[in-house]
Amino acid sequence: MTDRDDWAPKSVDLRTPNAARMYDYYLGGKDNLAPDRTAAEAVLEIAPQIRIAAQQNRAFLGRAVRHLAEAGIRQFLDVGTGLPTQNNVHEVAHRVAPESQVVYVDNDPVVLAHGRAILAGSKNVHIVQADLRRPDEILDDPEVRERLDFDRPIAILLVAIVHFLQEADDPAAVVARFRDALPSGGYLVLSHVCGDALPDAVAPVTEIYRRSSTPIITRSTERIRGFFGDLELVEPGLANVSAWRPDTVEAKRISEKYPQSYFLAGVGRKS
Ligand SMILES: C[S@@+](CC[C@H](N)C(=O)[O-])C[C@H]1O[C@@H](n2cnc3c(N)ncnc32)[C@H](O)[C@@H]1O
Repeated sequence: MTDRDDWAPKSVDLRTPNAARMYDYYLGGKDNLAPDRTAAEAVLEIAPQIRIAAQQNRAFLGRAVRHLAEAGIRQFLDVGTGLPTQNNVHEVAHRVAPESQVVYVDNDPVVLAHGRAILAGSKNVHIVQADLRRPDEILDDPEVRERLDFDRPIAILLVAIVHFLQEADDPAAVVARFRDALPSGGYLVLSHVCGDALPDAVAPVTEIYRRSSTPIITRSTERIRGFFGDLELVEPGLANVSAWRPDTVEAKRISEKYPQSYFLAGVGRKS
């Protein structure tokens, strides 16, 4: 870190680990600090599979966006953007169709500072500070409304974010609000940490995240399926992230090597 103001606004407590920066560490990124690395290493000690699961979650996000772009979707609302890394949503979408509009939403000031720096001058990409816990503020945000037309097919991405909602936040109602905002032919892309495959790791991993600025809640397969409501899940349905349409020899190999579902994902379509 050379200049703190460039890296993170002064108000941010950089001594407390944070999920966006821990995730960056799992992905092999450089936008993380010692407290983030210490917490991430403690998680990896309990569940070393989390690193590959995070990488596979990221790969799923890229495949899902490409799939939707190839299916003709030209608008993406990505809530819980994360720190910029490889294959960001706008890069994947623009490879298929440069005119695609992408709006990123996050509530983390460090994510926003980095996102704005990376995106300066990019066409058809916008970034908004808002909180998933208040979906109406996102859906009614003037920038969101200016860039995205909810009367035309659109994809809403909630990838690796809903597990940051506590039960008191009423995650089912929050996700339902986004499903309701979809027009016919719109899509919800969602992935979520699942506790079913690693029951012994749930309590100690949850405890590490409880001491971060971003506590996490793992949920069961059934709870995660419920987030899709009556949307029609496109093939292969709710799946381990690595098993969601692996499209290269390497992706297929990883999907066979790591069959357990630490992260479940799906893409639901509104009819
Ligand atoms: C693990 S990262 C996921 C990044 C990206 N979606 C992916 O899957 O590769 C989760 C992101 O969600 C953001 N986040 C967590 N809780 C949030 C909330 N309540 N509102 C908005 N963003 C939130 C974090 O700041 C972080 O950037």
